[in-house]
Parts: sequence; structure tokens; C-alpha cells
Amino acid sequence: MSNIAIRCENLSKQYRIGGYTQHYKVLRDVISDAAAASFRRLKNVARNGNGSRNDYIWALDDVSFEITAGEVVGIIGRNGSGKTTLLKILSRITKPTRGHAEIHGRVGSLLEVGTGFHPELSGRENIFLNGAILGMRKSEIERKFDEIVAFAEVEKFIDTPVKRYSSGMYVRLAFGVAAHMETEVLLVDEVLAVGDAQFQKKCFEKMREIGSHGRTILFVSHNMSAVRSICKEALILERGRVVAQGEIDQTVDQYLSRISTTESLDRAIETNTFSVTSVEVSSICGAVVKTFDPVQVRVQFVPKADIQDPGLYVSFLTMDSRRLTGLDLKDFVTSAPLPAGQTAELGFTIESLPLMPGTYQVEIHLKDMAKRLIEIVPQTFQFEVAETEVYGGRKLDGWFGSVGLRAQPLENISRKDAKTQR
Ligand SMILES: Nc1ncnc2c1ncn2[C@@H]1O[C@H](COP(=O)(O)OP(=O)(O)O)[C@@H](O)[C@H]1O
Ligand SMILES: [Mg+2]
Repeated sequence: MSNIAIRCENLSKQYRIGGYTQHYKVLRDVISDAAAASFRRLKNVARNGNGSRNDYIWALDDVSFEITAGEVVGIIGRNGSGKTTLLKILSRITKPTRGHAEIHGRVGSLLEVGTGFHPELSGRENIFLNGAILGMRKSEIERKFDEIVAFAEVEKFIDTPVKRYSSGMYVRLAFGVAAHMETEVLLVDEVLAVGDAQFQKKCFEKMREIGSHGRTILFVSHNMSAVRSICKEALILERGRVVAQGEIDQTVDQYLSRISTTESLDRAIETNTFSVTSVEVSSICGAVVKTFDPVQVRVQFVPKADIQDPGLYVSFLTMDSRRLTGLDLKDFVTSAPLPAGQTAELGFTIESLPLMPGTYQVEIHLKDMAKRLIEIVPQTFQFEVAETEVYGGRKLDGWFGSVGLRAQPLENISRKDAKTQR
């Protein structure tokens, strides 16, 4: 019989939205990921309607699962699906409202929220503090110390208070500590996305190594190639519930096909004049969106007033809100007037989507050009571009950026051919 490392039974966590108080420093603040923070705020407001103080949300809703010791499991799900809440409960940062969670063994964690680092203490002091919290002896920590510092590449700053660290240094040290301390269980939230591509790679390799040595790992990431290559199993969370758990490739595929369909909205997203009911980015040739696929972007909405000269602007953003490209319907067509109260749909067909595998956001503006009215939909919508063989079979990482190029090596086309092709 196999050993159980983690067991959750009917785990539920309720949060009050509106009365949003935070008692600990959020790593997101440290890394000043302002974009993500404002995104969450918008999302909360959107779900909360008028922002009334007495709305509750089930961040986790009756979650039960077991993880065998030594398993490396990816936790996947959209933003807001409860991944961080789950890791916070498992690492005892927060208590479940109902149900219970058992973990067998010591737990190391690298969470979105404070990893137990004290901002006023130096890197050195924090390493010792973390080791002590895990019940390690001083001599044990000393043995790990050099390894951690070398891995994190913070030798020069080891006696500087961590509050002076750059976001990259902070995450590197936090990961170094979590990965090198001898804990039976390691919980890693998606903070690794902060580090540079090379360091990410190093962390992924480290996790693979740790996993192969029998430690149990729960790994939250939006990077599906990383999840596929590190984990043997995955668990999908959707609105606080486990909707699937199983073999890695099959489960990731299932996740990708779930999210590539319409982002079903809890409720319509309101602007003054429009009520947006659905936003969809879908491939014309398959169940999931892949690089260079022909895709459609469909925006469904109900105008609250007659719209004489409807307009739509759609743009694609990276998850850190860098605008990659935008399209304005006005540059293509003049649309027929839309009567108030009737569901309308506007959008685009894109011949070939030049986005690399990853998660992106769609931003939408709805307009009535006759009234010079432009309304920005106060929430973005996420979609995933599934990993495919964009440039042959190689694994893509941050070095390849967000934009895919249809390219050929020069030597494949002789000059003569190139000329006659024109
Ligand atoms: N401290 C909190 N107070 C109120 N709501 C929260 C809090 N933490 C998380 N939530 C809400 O709980 C839901 C799940 O959040 P989270 O676990 O962070 O999701 P994920 O990590 O999958 O993005 C979201 O709707 C989020 O807004
Ligand atoms: Mg999270």
C-alpha cells in the first residue's frame, strides 16, 4: 500500500469580499506586480457587483483529494480558481472554513504570499530563521547554507536586509531555501514566473531533480510546458472545485480544452452603456488554440441604449499587461446600428494567431462612434495558447518571447528562388 503525503477532505474556504484585509506582506507587493494586483481588484469588483461589504465567496468548495508520497503534482486552473488558497491552507498560513487537510512530513513552501522571510533581516538571517522554523539544527542549516546561496546567486547581498532585494533576488533566495531545506513536501506557487528565463529553467530543473528523489511536490503554474515536464500528475481547480485529477498529459489537455472555450462569466460585466455577456477566443481548426491557428474572437453583449455606429476594439496583452497588438473594427467595416436590449455579437477572424504558447489577456473597448463614446470593459479575459511545435520540436522558454514568427532559414531559399517568388 502506498503512503499518503497529503489528504484533503471536504476542504472549503470562504472569504468575505469587500472587507479585504491583509495581515501579512504579500510577495506580490514585494515584487510590485501592480498589474496583477489591479487585475485581481477588478475581478473582485466584477464578481462583487456593487462592492457590497457582505458578499462572500467560496475560494475552495468541498475539495477532497489524496496525494501519494513522492508524487509530483501540477495544480492548474484559471486565475481565481483557488490554487493559492489551497497552498495557503496546506502550509497553515490560513485555516479552512470547513473540512480538513493532513500533511505527512515537513513542508517547505514558496508561495505568492510571504514565505516566512522577514524584510528587516538579511538573507543569511532569513535562511537560519527558516531552517529553525522547520526544526533543523544549526549545524544542519550550516551544511545547506552555501548551497542555497550559490543556487540563489545572492552571495554579494547575503548580509543585506531582504527588503532591499530586487524582486528577482527575493524569489531566487526564497526558492533556494524552499528547494534545499530537507522537507518531505514542497509547495510552489506561480511566483517563479517573476524570475528571469534562465533562473526559471534552473528552478524547473531543480524541481525535477527533487521530484525524482522522492519528495512530494505540489506545483502551481500557468506554464503548461513546465507542468508537463516536471509533474507526473495534475489536478484541475475550477471555481474552487476539483474538476479532474489524473495523468499529466491527459489532464493538461483536458484543462486546455476547457479554457479555450468561452470564458463563461459569472455574471455580465457592466459598463455604462454595455453589458458584456461572453468573450471567446477559439481556434477554427481545433479544440485548443495553438500558435498560428486561424482563430475567432467573439464578443457578446447587450447594449443598454440604441447604438447608432457600433465600434469594438480588441487587444491582446501579456499576463503582465504589456500590449502586444490591437484591432479596431472600424478599420475594417461599418457595422449596422444595434437596438437597446438585444444581444449583439461583434468580433474578428484572425487568419493566423502569432502568439507563442502561454496565457494572454484580451482587453475590450465597446463604442458608439456616433456619440464619440468609448467604454473600456473593466475586466480582461484570459485565454491560453497551447504549446505546439512552433519552431520544430524544441521546448520554448522565455527567450522566444510572446510573438511567433513564421520564418525560414536563409540558406533554404536561394537568391534566385527568392526573386522569382516575388
Ligand atoms: N484574502 C482574501 N480575501 C478575500 N478574497 C480572497 C482572498 N484571497 C483570495 N480571495 C478570493 O478567492 C478566490 C480564489 O483565490 P486564489 O486562491 O488566490 O486563486 P488562484 O491562486 O487560483 O488565482 C478569488 O476569487 C480571490 O479573489
Ligand atoms: Mg494564485
